[in-house]
Amino acid sequence: MISNTAAVEDVRMTHHGAASGEAPSPPTPEGVPLLGNGLAFSRDPVGAMEEWATLGDVVRIETPGLTTYMVTDPAAIERILADDHERFTISEAQRETFRGVEDDAVTTTTGERWTRLRSALRPAFTRDALDRYSDRMTATTAAFVDEWDDGERIDLYRELRLLTVNVLADALLDIDVRGREDVVMDAADALVDRANFRRPGQLLPDWIPTPTQRRFERTVGELDEFVDGIIDERRGSESADDVCSVLLDAHADGKLTLAEVRHNVVALLLAGHDSPSVALTYVWYLLEEHPDVYESLREEYRDVVGDGRPDAESYDDLERTRNVVTEALRLYPPTLGVSRQSTEPVTLSGYELPAGAQLLLPQRVVHRDERFWDDPTTFDPARWAEPTDRPEYAYFPFSGGPRNCIGAQFARRELTLVLATMLGRVDLDVSMDGPLRFTPSLQLRPENDIEATVARR
Ligand code: HEM
Repeated sequence: MISNTAAVEDVRMTHHGAASGEAPSPPTPEGVPLLGNGLAFSRDPVGAMEEWATLGDVVRIETPGLTTYMVTDPAAIERILADDHERFTISEAQRETFRGVEDDAVTTTTGERWTRLRSALRPAFTRDALDRYSDRMTATTAAFVDEWDDGERIDLYRELRLLTVNVLADALLDIDVRGREDVVMDAADALVDRANFRRPGQLLPDWIPTPTQRRFERTVGELDEFVDGIIDERRGSESADDVCSVLLDAHADGKLTLAEVRHNVVALLLAGHDSPSVALTYVWYLLEEHPDVYESLREEYRDVVGDGRPDAESYDDLERTRNVVTEALRLYPPTLGVSRQSTEPVTLSGYELPAGAQLLLPQRVVHRDERFWDDPTTFDPARWAEPTDRPEYAYFPFSGGPRNCIGAQFARRELTLVLATMLGRVDLDVSMDGPLRFTPSLQLRPENDIEATVARR
């Protein structure tokens, strides 16, 4: 652990460097021999990042074999992601994470290839497309929630994952995955496990057959087979609105290879269910802690939706529900951070960084920085009802700039409409085994057992 005194000394040293005329290099938190800052990070990634941020807006983190610069200044984050995005590419670490599963997908490619893959996906995320998905999102949710019995105790996070796989598969791919969700969830788990900072084999190359690597290969193989099955089915049928058809049309026009079609679908299935289910779990956790907010959402539901089911139009009117989602994504952003790599030497927030620097932009830390937020740790959805002059990049759960999350609007709509549909059909009494803890990986998934007792309405 770093003491505050050490922090002050470190910052003074770097300021001394500045006096000599060069931009200083960023402060580094005190670490332990061999593992550097890796030990603190693997024990408690969130606590470690919060502590390190007290040293400055850019901090150099040393872990075995890797130097990472953590950036928490919204102006610098805006430069990296938006204004100066051409000088920052996706990181080697990110490509490594998805190696063997999304090598030909939008998530891991760069340059002309990324532009081509991203444009091929765009028609599936227009405002019209989102309006079309809305009714399907609520219909899928209603059918799913109606399977729960009155008084049943559910594993909340698992059920919400099953639900988001179904919502995504139905809306985007027009397929019914009920009963087959595990093929998607197992591959996502294997990916998160392979990137787990506490995993003993983390530093071994992939060709060493550790149990984690073997599980990764098996589950990814099964997911590939599953997606190939969907592609084969679609190739034999009329072109439709779903993403698979859109991508296959691009393939027929010679714009995408079949491997690119397959890996884009895989990327959507993985990226598109995991974060929304984590976010929804935290929404329900927060509502349990704030019964007044819970009640105000019910009231809004009665006013806006009444006896029916929410649809595309109710989305615009469900303002309080949208604000609850926005605020939950502030306090509990589902991802550990956005990662980038500099392509040339840069000065960020007054610190000099070399070419090839690995950057980590941790949303959770910036979203709770008291320089930009009043009562930063308080869950206060009403803060979103007022305009503000806070820097734009003090809030970036979906990243920003041209390479932001392509599913951001899909996710906002899904979270709002799924939550509203649930509120209309059930009451959930949520309970948890102790204070919230997170998996030490790329997703800040809950590590706790989170259960809920269902009361049908
Ligand atoms: C609460 C829900 C979600 C959160 C918090 C989230 C967050 C993110 C973040 C932080 C990134 C990294 C962007 C970057 O590197 O700058 C990302 C990328 C991405 N997300 Fe999401 N996401 C969510 C939901 C979704 C959904 C529903 C989909 C698909 C339907 C999706 C598809 C993608 C894809 C394909 C990328 C890669 C984009 C690219 O590299 O061009 N995400 N997301």
